[in-house]
Amino acid sequence: MTPDRPFVIVTRRLPDAVEAALAASFDVRLNPSDRQYTAAELRTALSEADAVLCTLTDPLDAMVLGPGPWRARLLANFGVGTNHIDLAAARTAGLAVTNTPGVLTDCTADLAIALMLMVLRRLDEGSRQLRAGAWPGWHPVHLLGRRLTGRTLGVVGFGRIGQAVAHRAHHGFGMQILTVARPTLDAAALARVAGEAVEGLDELLERSDIASLHVPLTPGTRHLMDARRLALLGPKGVLVNTARGEVVDEAALAEALHAGALGGAGLDVFEREPLVHPRLLTAPSAVLLPHQGSATVETRTAMGMKAVENLRAFSRGEPLPDRVA
Ligand code: DGY
Repeated sequence: MTPDRPFVIVTRRLPDAVEAALAASFDVRLNPSDRQYTAAELRTALSEADAVLCTLTDPLDAMVLGPGPWRARLLANFGVGTNHIDLAAARTAGLAVTNTPGVLTDCTADLAIALMLMVLRRLDEGSRQLRAGAWPGWHPVHLLGRRLTGRTLGVVGFGRIGQAVAHRAHHGFGMQILTVARPTLDAAALARVAGEAVEGLDELLERSDIASLHVPLTPGTRHLMDARRLALLGPKGVLVNTARGEVVDEAALAEALHAGALGGAGLDVFEREPLVHPRLLTAPSAVLLPHQGSATVETRTAMGMKAVENLRAFSRGEPLPDRVA
């Protein structure tokens, strides 16, 4: 039986409007200091609260989730990716899990396009040169980049975000879109961007100027982009990753960039956030952002409100709108 006004523990600071909505509907313990919970604190939260509103910085693995007994019955994740939660262990522990799909699609897709422009047009390099007082003034061969318009984009993972990137790339920049053929491929969405489904990832990488990653992190996608696949993209190819850092072998990526075996990379996510492989920090033609894909007021507020909707459904004993486990 769920109490009418469940006790909800929130593991990180959230946008003000979201915290206000939580306080209006639940007995809530917020985290004004925003200090990350330790594994022991997460376990305590599970034993004290009816529901825990968690984020991707909470490693809710099998060690943390079991064995209880837990008072909590819901993990309401703030974010769409749930790779930090062991879903099987959550099920075993009697915890439902929800996420926040849909509301971060546009901002993440916008950022993927921004990264493509930053790498191809050398925008980060230009900005740093100007701020360092090293701009020699306009001249005809100053910081020549490469044009984005008309290039071929390989979209790896043609779900909501992949489709939104393809839409922007095709309709905004006249790009040719490739993705990998799968039985579940949304053929109508691919037709809307005049896209082509190719046999496999290797072919996609060989034929693309830019490959943009939009797959969830699973055991099957971990290090999907390894040294061999990076080589297929080649010395002119650009890799963009706004999905999860672990989808790319970061050490192999750094080596490929340093060796000139890959033309460039635009990265918003990293294998061991907030740590970044030291060789990436010095890699040429790499643009590195601190996981900003969904970082707009609008999107982070909408993500929080989705978590609130799931918590409200939980408190009323109704089906959870965004249940993943
Ligand atoms: C998510 O929702 O998983 C994003 O990575 C958060 O920015």
